[in-house]
Amino acid sequence: MNSQHLNMPAKANQQTYDLFAPSALVNSYPLFKRMRSEDPVHYCESFGYWILTRYRDVKAALQDERLSSDRTALFINQLENLDVNLIQNFLHLVTKIMVEQDPPDHTRLRKLANQGFTTRALESWRAIIHNTTDQLLDNVQNHGCMNVVSDLSVPLPLFILPEIFGVPETDRANLLEWASDISTFWGAPGGSNIEIEEFALHADLAAVQFSALIRQLVEQRRRQPGTDMISLLSVAYLEQGFNLEEISSLCIQILGAGLLTITDQISNGVNALLRHPDQLQKLKKNPTLINSAVEEMIRFDTSVPFFFRIAKQDLTIGGKDITAGSVIALGLGAANHDPEKFDSPEVFDITRSPNEHLGFGSGIHFCLGSVLARMELTICFTTLLRRLPNLSFDPDKQAIPTKHKSLLFKGFDSLPVKF
Ligand code: HEM
Repeated sequence: MNSQHLNMPAKANQQTYDLFAPSALVNSYPLFKRMRSEDPVHYCESFGYWILTRYRDVKAALQDERLSSDRTALFINQLENLDVNLIQNFLHLVTKIMVEQDPPDHTRLRKLANQGFTTRALESWRAIIHNTTDQLLDNVQNHGCMNVVSDLSVPLPLFILPEIFGVPETDRANLLEWASDISTFWGAPGGSNIEIEEFALHADLAAVQFSALIRQLVEQRRRQPGTDMISLLSVAYLEQGFNLEEISSLCIQILGAGLLTITDQISNGVNALLRHPDQLQKLKKNPTLINSAVEEMIRFDTSVPFFFRIAKQDLTIGGKDITAGSVIALGLGAANHDPEKFDSPEVFDITRSPNEHLGFGSGIHFCLGSVLARMELTICFTTLLRRLPNLSFDPDKQAIPTKHKSLLFKGFDSLPVKF
């Protein structure tokens, strides 16, 4: 997922609505509420972009063909004076990723990508998710305490996705390291402590190595196809006459989109349950509520609070004139707390119905991994509550719960619990 604008802008302190204020980074919802009621289509001078906080505006924007998902220019702008010729391999890989494309390119890619997520394939991966969750809990079961982030929510998708891709164990660490180098640079090119050129060259090399590994796996799967995602995508690309080289872009997209989102959503979900003991009890008494509980965890505190679009032409949203080329931040998290759409939006209610949250987006880019994400989350929470029924915050630990200081990724860096 593209994650530009991770860095605090120089003039952030002068803003009317300071999204980077420490209190807002811990809990953005009071600020979203103020923005929604005072200025729901807000132009933020210091960020240089529009921010939408109403459900109806965000949903309409997600489906608006006048808005582009191609944010490559935003990325290039952040490269300072870097010579882009140095990162041609990197650009070749990331600028083709699906979530950055508009129709008709997006339409053809999405059709291919859907083949990697068939119902049959998803069902065949269920056991991987069960086994991985159990193994991670086996490691801590006798300790009486754990850090949800380091012991469960980070390793879970890191183990699951390479297995779903069918990557041999010996290659998994490399795959994840290269994917992380690529995604980090794409997310925040100016956001590292090292020189941008060094960071860029590192990402470019990772792009070469990542693509070579995927190419090698594709070759193997063509000889011996299985139910893993690389096999499914290879068959789809060949059947539709597409260049197999492009599978690397789809793979980096799926890995980038499927790791931190799940990690953060698990920690946000555990936090929501532990802060609402009545709801936790209700779920423990009636585990069949798990599906609706997971939907409410996503609505109540999504791991993806913003997504960006670029206006392709002049347009008006909520009475505000927006010029072509403007950047628009769609406040998915804010929309999910809009009282015009949700009764008592600040109440965490695991039986909420209907619950038409925008956590997975809407329209043509609706989350491709939503079924897998729901499966991972339901299995993870069901197993967690079954095996550790006395779960509670751990006040004895020196490590206190801390959240990322990021506008775009909402989740915890540390969440100690005992059981
Ligand atoms: C709780 C977890 C997740 C959340 C909250 C989430 C959220 C989102 C959102 C909001 C979008 C829409 C982006 C846009 O409109 O531009 C999206 C797209 C996408 N997601 Fe997820 N996601 C999650 C998990 C996953 C997983 C597990 C995968 C795959 C393994 C995945 C793969 C994708 C892909 C490939 C797209 C791009 C779809 C397209 O452009 O057509 N996501 N996700």
